[in-house]
This record gives sequence, structure tokens and C-alpha cells, in this order.
Amino acid sequence: MSRPKNDTFLRALLRQPTEYTPLWLMRQAGRYLPEYCETRRRAGSFLQLCKSPSMACEVTMQPLARYNLDAAILFSDILTVPDAMGLGLYFAEGEGPKFERPLREEWEIRNLAMPDPNVELRYVMDAVAEIRRTLDNAVPLIGFAGSPFTLACYMVEGGASEDYRRVKTLMYDRPDLMHHVLAVTTEAVTAYLNAQVEAGAQAVMVFDSWGGVLSERAYREFSLAYMERIVSRLTKERNGCRVPNIVFTKGGGQWIEAIAAIGCDAVGLDWTMGLAEARRRTDDRVALQGNLDPMALFAAPEAVAAEARRVLDDFAAAGPGGGHVFNLGHGISQHTPPENVAVLADTVHAYSRSQRSRGS
Ligand code: CP3
Repeated sequence: MSRPKNDTFLRALLRQPTEYTPLWLMRQAGRYLPEYCETRRRAGSFLQLCKSPSMACEVTMQPLARYNLDAAILFSDILTVPDAMGLGLYFAEGEGPKFERPLREEWEIRNLAMPDPNVELRYVMDAVAEIRRTLDNAVPLIGFAGSPFTLACYMVEGGASEDYRRVKTLMYDRPDLMHHVLAVTTEAVTAYLNAQVEAGAQAVMVFDSWGGVLSERAYREFSLAYMERIVSRLTKERNGCRVPNIVFTKGGGQWIEAIAAIGCDAVGLDWTMGLAEARRRTDDRVALQGNLDPMALFAAPEAVAAEARRVLDDFAAAGPGGGHVFNLGHGISQHTPPENVAVLADTVHAYSRSQRSRGS
């Protein structure tokens, strides 16, 4: 297996020089695309779409057919891992993800077992392999998983939560049990990510969507420490190519020095911290991924382009070099006008090329 023809994204993650700033978008395959909604209708449900390798492959390719993107991301969900641990994932219409058997009792936590990614999550590995064949090395494929803390939020709450009351109660009352949930989940996530790399993923990302709701002390103990354990045990090289990793804590900008110190290649940022400040605080020791506010995509095309240029200028303001992957600060909204995504992709490519020719 050779390098992708367009490996700009992989080089940026490794802080090697690139001709322009590569871009992809979190949730780039999703409900803002009519062709996604059509495939999902055919699949019957979101979960059936995830569990069908050929349809997951089809929707992974959809945003790449429309836009000039520099990476593909496996179409799946972070909650497939707790589903494979026996919690029974389902999606109630209009209510988001839910579990039939959330972790409520001590015995349920003690019984938690690690799934075999090549058995219970075989459909994900089959999707990765099928996507790699379909991509034919055009751009790299990103694999992903949820962070142990973010998965624990859903596993304990049983679904989305406004205040994280149950999971925080467990954390404050029974830190030993919370650590047990996190330790088992860490094993599951590590094996799952390494199986994705084995199946063909060329970079991996850990989504810590809810770590930002913790205090600094709790974040370090209950979220960051486990992501550090995962990063330290990831497969770093396959077939002679480095497999870079990205760690993203939404709301984690304030802790960026600590995140950059866990050994990851890149840190994902939401839109609340400027990239120049992030570069200064991490001393260019990691690449940065982000960080346009997804709501900027609702403005007029000229405003979308202006905001994209502002993000690129901000990164460049901290000096030459670095390593920047352009992205949104969180997933794209289902109500986004698809034509604005084309404006964004074209602006990022053209403007970052012009920045380099100006020597900035
Ligand atoms: O980025 C990509 O294109 C890859 C696909 C991807 C999905 N979910 C597809 C999806 C990825 C990387 C995720 C990660 C994910 N899933 C996270 C972490 C990232 C984040 O947003 O913070 C979280 C917290 C989840 C859990 C989850 N799955 C939620 C909260 C929802 C939304 C529920 C809703 O109805 O809005 C999902 C469903 C989901 N995952 C959709 C997609 C495209 C929409 C499902 C649909 O088609 O109905």
C-alpha cells in the first residue's frame, strides 16, 4: 500500500511543508447533503447505514465528490464501541443516541467487558477496507473513536445530557468505579483504533466532545490521562508510513499545553481560542487542526470566505512553518447550505497558496 497521491493532510499533521493548507470537515458526510439523506432513507436508519460497509463507503465518498477535500473520514459513530460492549445503542427520532442498558449499578460496571474489534466491530473494519479500495489512494482515510470520558458520559447517562449529573455523581462519589469504566473503555478504544489502522486507516482522531465540561483537575484525571494512555499505545507506523494522531477536546483550548504534552501529533481546537495564541502556547510542538465556527457557514458566501481567511491569517501571524489542518471547530450543522462548503474549500486552498507565495 503506497502513499496517497494527495498526502498534504498527512504532511501537515507531521508539520512538514505543504503547498497549501489541507482541509476536511468534522461530520463532512451528514444530513446537510441531500445525497446523504437519500442513502440513509435507503438504509432505513442511521445505525443500519453505519452497519452496512457498502453504504457507509458510499456516504464517506459523497462529500469528496462535491468538494475539494484533502481527507476522507470513515463514516461511523463513536457510540459503536459501547454498543459492541453490550449496552444496546439506538436512536430515538429527534432525541439523539440512547442506550437500552446504561451503566447504573455497580455490578453492571464490574461486568463491563472489552469487545474484540475484529468480531463485534467487524462491520467497521470491513467499511475501512472497502473505503480504502474505493479511494484508490486519492486522499488519506481518517479512522476515529470517542475518548473514554466522552463515551462514559453516554454510557452512564444513557443518552445525551444537559448537566452530566449522573456521570459526575459517579465520578465524585465513586471515583474507583468511574476509573474502572474508563480503564475498560480505554482498552476497547485502543484495540479499536489499532484495528482500524490494520484495516487501512492512515490517521486516527480521538473525539473528546465533553471533556470541556470538567474542572481542570478532573479533566486531567478522568479524561486526559486516558487519552495519553491511548496515544502511547497507538500503532505509529504501518507499511513504512507514519500514522499520525489527532486529539480533540471540545472546550479544551484552555488546557492546550497539557494536551500537547501527551505525545499526540496534532491537537484539534474549537473556535474559542485563536490559532496564533495556540501556536505560541504549544511552541509549535504539535500540529493544530481547526477552527472555524461552524455557524460561520450560514453567512453570505463573501462572509464565509472572509472568516476562512481570518483563520488562516491568525495561524500565519505566529510565524512561518507550523502545521495546520483547516477544519471547523465542531461538526457541521445539518442545516448548512451545501454551496457555502464549496466556497470554504476553494477559499482555504487558494488563499493559503497565496500566503505561501507571499512568504508568510
Ligand atoms: O465526521 C464524519 O463525517 C464522520 C462521521 C461521524 C459521525 N459521528 C456521524 C454521525 C463522527 C466522527 C461522529 C462522532 C460523534 N458521534 C461524536 C463526536 C463528535 C462530536 O460531534 O462531538 C459524538 C458526540 C457522537 C454521538 C452522536 N451521534 C450524536 C450526538 C449524534 C447526533 C444525533 C442527532 O440526531 O443529531 C449522532 C448521530 C450521527 N453521527 C449523525 C451522523 C452523520 C446524524 C445521524 C442521522 O443521519 O440521523
